[in-house]
Amino acid sequence: MTESRQRVTVLGSTGSIGVNTLDVLARHPDRFTVFALSGHSRIDLLFTQCLAHQPEFVVATEPHAAAQLQSRLAAAGSQTRVLLGHEALDEVAAHPDVDMVMAAIVGAAGLSSCIAAARAGKRLLLANKEALVVGGAFFMDVVRAGNATLLPIDSEHSAIFQSLPTDRVLWPSVVDKIILTASGGPFRTRDPATLSQVTPAQACAHPNWSMGRKISVDSATMMNKALEVIEAKFLFGLDPSRIDAIIHPQSVVHSMVQFVDHSVVAQLGVPDMRGPIAYGLSWPQRIASGTTALDFSAMTGLSFETFDSPAHRARFPGLRLAWDALRSAPGTTAVLNAANEIAVAAFLDTRIRFDQIHAVNQATLEGFAVGAPGSLPDILALDEEARAYAQQLVRGFAR
Ligand SMILES: NC(=O)c1ccc[n+]([C@@H]2O[C@H](COP(=O)([O-])OP(=O)(O)OC[C@H]3O[C@@H](n4cnc5c(N)ncnc54)[C@H](OP(=O)(O)O)[C@@H]3O)[C@@H](O)[C@H]2O)c1
Repeated sequence: MTESRQRVTVLGSTGSIGVNTLDVLARHPDRFTVFALSGHSRIDLLFTQCLAHQPEFVVATEPHAAAQLQSRLAAAGSQTRVLLGHEALDEVAAHPDVDMVMAAIVGAAGLSSCIAAARAGKRLLLANKEALVVGGAFFMDVVRAGNATLLPIDSEHSAIFQSLPTDRVLWPSVVDKIILTASGGPFRTRDPATLSQVTPAQACAHPNWSMGRKISVDSATMMNKALEVIEAKFLFGLDPSRIDAIIHPQSVVHSMVQFVDHSVVAQLGVPDMRGPIAYGLSWPQRIASGTTALDFSAMTGLSFETFDSPAHRARFPGLRLAWDALRSAPGTTAVLNAANEIAVAAFLDTRIRFDQIHAVNQATLEGFAVGAPGSLPDILALDEEARAYAQQLVRGFAR
């Protein structure tokens, strides 16, 4: 540990990952100090977090929220300065006084701040998988050019990172495949013919993990796993044919690496995001995370199921879109993500049915022409155009 405390910006502090990050940080006041927080709609929680963690800055992305926060903090005698808008997210991500950035905004809205942190050479703790799915090879180029340290927070990618050799030069020659585990979500055993009747509340009721609404729906459609396959390709630089996914309902094995000698290394733990968060914050050391230990004596068994059965192919048609997108022109993964964000938001607003999420995603991939994006403005423009295309499809489906 360095002499001085590490200064951490938590982007998306009001979300599920953000709250868990603040929980871990609060357990180690000798190691970490909170430099900046950000929120979008949950302003009461953001206000409470400011009082508890006393950051230098807080970013609110909406003007009325920023104004409200400003007056409440002033009345409470807080020294925290309120900044407004998405440019301010970039500012607190790249600020010279910041050591680490937790990227926990949901969706492509977090891309620009991730790029800002990477350009500034920060330790970037990536929960916001959509940012990497959208930014793709460009994102990884910025990480290398900025000499940033990119560490995965997704439990699956953290598990893979923990299972791989430290020397990343070895990865392409020693890894046979990486195997992402998936709980199967709330509909693992549901009759696929009834998926059209699923409600948002049912889709958000994940059996093992407590998460934000968007990722919960993605876990129900298995688009979360599709995004993770794409994330793994960019993070670990392996050919998509060497990335596999398997259902593991207990969520104890967080993912595995199979090596060329067919030895398999896995990482295990209870399903609690504070584990991977603490690992990212402390790497290459380890710190207490607040999670409970696995109780092997209480474990009744660990089971695995292939996705490659007729029932699971019918239940989770979105999973294969990951490989389809990775085999297509660069930028296609950004299009898939844009379609999915639009479709999930429409489902949560009850404008389309659950099964139509996949229909929107597939039709966008098939119908939208992709030009290779070479810069952040190119990527943001592609994202916007693909969203408009998907919105039009949603309107066609609307009930
Ligand atoms: N939750 C998990 O267990 C988990 C596990 C692995 C990976 N992840 C990934 O981590 C990310 C966050 O997930 P989550 O479950 O924490 O989501 P969440 O609970 O919905 O939180 C999302 C955060 O992003 C903020 N936000 C939403 N829209 C925004 C916008 N347009 N601009 C700026 N900020 C915005 C939210 O602010 P308000 O709340 O104030 O509106 C909140 O702070 C996602 O990419 C997800 O895939 C999550």
